[in-house]
Amino acid sequence: MWHRYGMTSAAPVRKLLLDCDPGLDDALAILLAAGDPDLELVGITTVGGNVGLDGTTRNALQLREYFQIDGVPVAAGADQPLSRAAETAEHVHGASGLGDVVLAEATLAIEARSAIDFLIDTIRDAPGQIHLVATGPLTNIALALRQEPRLTEWVASFTIMGGSYTRGNATPAAEFNIFADPEAAAEVFAAGWTVTMIGLDLTLQAIVTDAVGERMKALGPLGTDLVEPLATFWKNPLDDQWDGQALHDVCAVAFVARPELFTSKPARVEIELAGEFTAGMTVVDFHSDAPNALVPMRLDVAGFWDYVFAAWGNVEPRG
Ligand code: RIB
Ligand code: CA
Repeated sequence: MWHRYGMTSAAPVRKLLLDCDPGLDDALAILLAAGDPDLELVGITTVGGNVGLDGTTRNALQLREYFQIDGVPVAAGADQPLSRAAETAEHVHGASGLGDVVLAEATLAIEARSAIDFLIDTIRDAPGQIHLVATGPLTNIALALRQEPRLTEWVASFTIMGGSYTRGNATPAAEFNIFADPEAAAEVFAAGWTVTMIGLDLTLQAIVTDAVGERMKALGPLGTDLVEPLATFWKNPLDDQWDGQALHDVCAVAFVARPELFTSKPARVEIELAGEFTAGMTVVDFHSDAPNALVPMRLDVAGFWDYVFAAWGNVEPRG
């Protein structure tokens, strides 16, 4: 089979395990993983973040049934950061974590194992096959690495939505997922693998403009009942430099499926833990000779939206 660029055989289906804190954009990342035929969502693990663990887990269980991906296990993880007090973001995601979207109560059982045990078992039992993606605070990932450091050898790849090489959003210096558990992020970036860090500099190119919002409504009930309301719930009165919400977490799943939509550079990423004003900052050195990360910087925005809408359109919501 020819493998010249553009002449490759159909890409193999990529197995994806998503650790998340749904969450407006986490929900749309789950939808992307559910709709892309080139991805097999092998599990969802939840962590406290945008709202507490009970809320993120409830949301994941409800979304699983609404998207009709009933066979995907959902396992609950850490409710608290490794050492700091919990930070949540109801002011952005709403009290429930899903804005003003109300879904049917879940009827299917949660995974009996904890998220940490589920992550370790799933990755160990499929060495070199699991693309691990984290779109919330990195507490579950850090705890799993403490229990089984060989995860770094077994994963096919590891991608996060988090950090920034310029400004933050939780504070002027720190992006929320890192700010919520800086100690976990520090352990994760120091674990010896390559972390693909999809930061705010990239995700703020995936803005829900009015035109994108109209495309969402054209998805039918999925669009009008869920996608558009989630993607337009948060209006930031302070940051008038963007004309819409950014779908941060969707970018992380898209990277696994369509890396060609991203232009990236290697870098050394360290996490600031002690700064009075900079705790949780990702300090990104693009000139290091000891990189531990790949940092996507530029997004093919038109290609991204075309890909995302094609995948989302494959999902038939449970009526
Ligand atoms: O800073 C954006 C990130 O924080 C996203 O993952 C969003 O869901 C929140 O968790
Ligand atoms: Ca998230």
